[in-house]
Amino acid sequence: MRRKVTVVGAGNVGATCAQVLAQRDYADVVLVDIKEDLPQGKALDIDQMAAVLGFEPNVVGSNGYEETAGSEVVVITAGLPRSPGMSRDDLVTTNEKIVGSVTEQVVSASPDAVLIVVSNPLDAMCHVAKNVSGRPKERVFGMAGILDTARFSTFIAWETGASVKDVTAMVLGGHGDQMVPVVSATAVGGIPLTKLVGQERIDAMVERTRKGGGELVNLLGTSAWYAPGAAAAQMVDSICLDEKRVLPCTAYLEGEYGIDGLYMGVPVKLGAAGVEEIVELELNDQERAWLDESAAAVRDVVGVLST
Ligand code: NAI
Ligand code: 2OP
Repeated sequence: MRRKVTVVGAGNVGATCAQVLAQRDYADVVLVDIKEDLPQGKALDIDQMAAVLGFEPNVVGSNGYEETAGSEVVVITAGLPRSPGMSRDDLVTTNEKIVGSVTEQVVSASPDAVLIVVSNPLDAMCHVAKNVSGRPKERVFGMAGILDTARFSTFIAWETGASVKDVTAMVLGGHGDQMVPVVSATAVGGIPLTKLVGQERIDAMVERTRKGGGELVNLLGTSAWYAPGAAAAQMVDSICLDEKRVLPCTAYLEGEYGIDGLYMGVPVKLGAAGVEEIVELELNDQERAWLDESAAAVRDVVGVLST
C-alpha cells in the first residue's frame, strides 16, 4: 500500500503542494476543502495530468476527513490569504478559528500524523495547531523558512550570475518583515557572500527578502503559491523518505537560540520522526539582535490568540 499524505485547503498553495507531491510519485494524496466540488475537481485534474506526465499516485478530493484517515503527514493550508495592504498578522483571528477546527478533525482521523502548518500568520498558527492537537512539538511545525530562503537564494543567484543550485543560504526568525536572512551563513560555491558582493547590494537583497511576501501580494493581488506549495512538499519529502534534510522550518523553541516557548524559523533536521534536531548556527551581533526583534514580533501576535 502506498503512503498517504493529506493537504487541507485546496486553494492556490494547497493545490500546488498536492500537485508537486503527486509528481514525486511515492504517496497518494488527499485534498480537503470546505468548498464543494473544488477539491474533487482539482484532484481529478491532477490525476489526469499524471496521464500526460507519467506518474501514478491516486489523488482524491474531499469535503470531509474520512478519506484522510491514516495519513503520515498532513499539510494545513486552509485559511485566508493576504490581500494588498494586509500584513500576515491581520489574518490572525479568522485563521485561528479555521486552523483550530481543521487540526481537531485531522488529528481525530490521523492521530499519528506529522502536522505541517502553512496558514498565516504562520508562527502563531503553529501554536494553535500544537495547542489544539496536543501533539509533541517534534510532530507539529511550520513551513516558511524554505520559502524565505528560496527568495533570498534567487536574488543572490541573479546578483552573482551563479546557479541557484550553488547558493547556500538560510533565513531564520518569524515569517514576517522582521525575518533574519543570515548573511554570515551564506555562500556561493563555498565562497562567503560578503567576498563576492558589496555591502550595499547585500543590504538591498536582505531587504527585498524580508519584504518578499508583500512584493508578490502587490503583483498578484493575493499571496504567492508556486514556491510556497513546493516548499511544503519538500518538507513532506524529507519526513516521508526520512531524508534528514537540514531545512529552515518553524519549530517550537525551548531555550535554543535563547528563545523559550515560541515557534520560530530555525534550521532543523527533518526525518521520519519529524523535527529530529534543532541546529544552532553561530550568529553575529546584528543577526542576534534581529532574531530577538523577530521573536518579540511573533510573541505579540501569539498574545492575541485565544487558543
Ligand atoms: P486560498 O484562498 O487560495 O486557499 C485557501 C483555501 O482554504 C480555500 O480554498 C478555502 O476554501 C479553504 N478553507 C477555508 N476554510 C477551510 C476549512 N475550515 N477547512 C478546509 N478548507 C478551508 O489561499 P492560499 O493562497 O492557498 O493560502 C492559504 C494560506 O497559506 C493563507 O493563510 C496564506 O496566507 C498562507 N500562506 C503561507 C505561506 C507561508 O510561507 N507559510 C506562503 C503562502 C501562503
Ligand atoms: C508569503 O510569504 C504571504 O506568507 C506569504 O508569500
